[in-house]
Amino acid sequence: MATTAVPSPPGKGTPVTTDETPTTAQQPTSAGSSQDRPTFDTSVAHIARVYDYWLGGRDNYAADRKAGDAALEAYPYIAAGVRANRAFLARVVRYLAAEAGIRQFLDIGTGIPTANNTHEVAQAIEPDSRVVYIDNDPIVLAHARALLTSSPEGATVYLDADFRDVDKILADASQALDFSQPVAVMLIAILHLIDDEADPYGTVAKLVDAIPSGSYLAISHLSSDIDASAGRTEAHDRLRQLMHEKQTLRSHEEVASFFTGLEMVEPGLVRIPEWRPDDEAQAKSRSALWGGVARKR
Ligand SMILES: C[S@@+](CC[C@H](N)C(=O)[O-])C[C@H]1O[C@@H](n2cnc3c(N)ncnc32)[C@H](O)[C@@H]1O
Repeated sequence: MATTAVPSPPGKGTPVTTDETPTTAQQPTSAGSSQDRPTFDTSVAHIARVYDYWLGGRDNYAADRKAGDAALEAYPYIAAGVRANRAFLARVVRYLAAEAGIRQFLDIGTGIPTANNTHEVAQAIEPDSRVVYIDNDPIVLAHARALLTSSPEGATVYLDADFRDVDKILADASQALDFSQPVAVMLIAILHLIDDEADPYGTVAKLVDAIPSGSYLAISHLSSDIDASAGRTEAHDRLRQLMHEKQTLRSHEEVASFFTGLEMVEPGLVRIPEWRPDDEAQAKSRSALWGGVARKR
């Protein structure tokens, strides 16, 4: 498999222009086989990079930090919320690999690699786990090599694709995943980036249709009804002004609708820190996201 160097991440405060775009990372499959260099607009904040900034990463630019800080200033609990989301992701993967017997993961809206990526958690439990990562942001593609450190027994693949293009996702992912066997579809902190006009419900239903009985769907989603404080509302307004992607907050009922027809795993759709927490302190941590996991009968 041919590889090209992944760029050194920009340091905080490093002036970066769009001319300094990195060369592509590993091109794992035909889906990511374009020889084009990914280009991205560093003058406008993008969620993958803002999220990286909130997590303390270095793969972000001045516009991302400005948007991230503006939101944090209005609602400082965002920092705890993103950490809670990563912890939720790790607990979900652990549950799926260790308790539900899942060996195949389709992780859509992967984000910039950080600690405890899906394949690391899954392969630490079951080394033969296979993970397909999907994101549509070129900066995630540029750093994809960090996601391709599979155990020899398993596999990891990164595909540059859009959540809304399910046919392409399923066709390309089938190079690495066997869709006749259970697959966990991971939609962690991505669905609130898909507005209603783009039909997120229809898209999730199509994904669920494509996976066999015994498969799982995992979701975390920014809520409209956990904390409607003025600070949180202000933070979202600021992000709406400053960030390329617009967020659509949804209620418990609206998020629950993504799981229609599936069997919820205990404890159901809850605030993410309350989903099978490691301890009581974790369960109490601040977070305004709903999260849940369900099994296809
Ligand atoms: C908030 S980050 C979440 C990252 C990771 N899932 C997590 O929870 O830690 C959302 C990610 O979804 C990606 N994303 C947003 N819209 C997308 C779309 N339509 N198709 C694919 N990826 C998308 C963004 O580029 C970003 O990397």
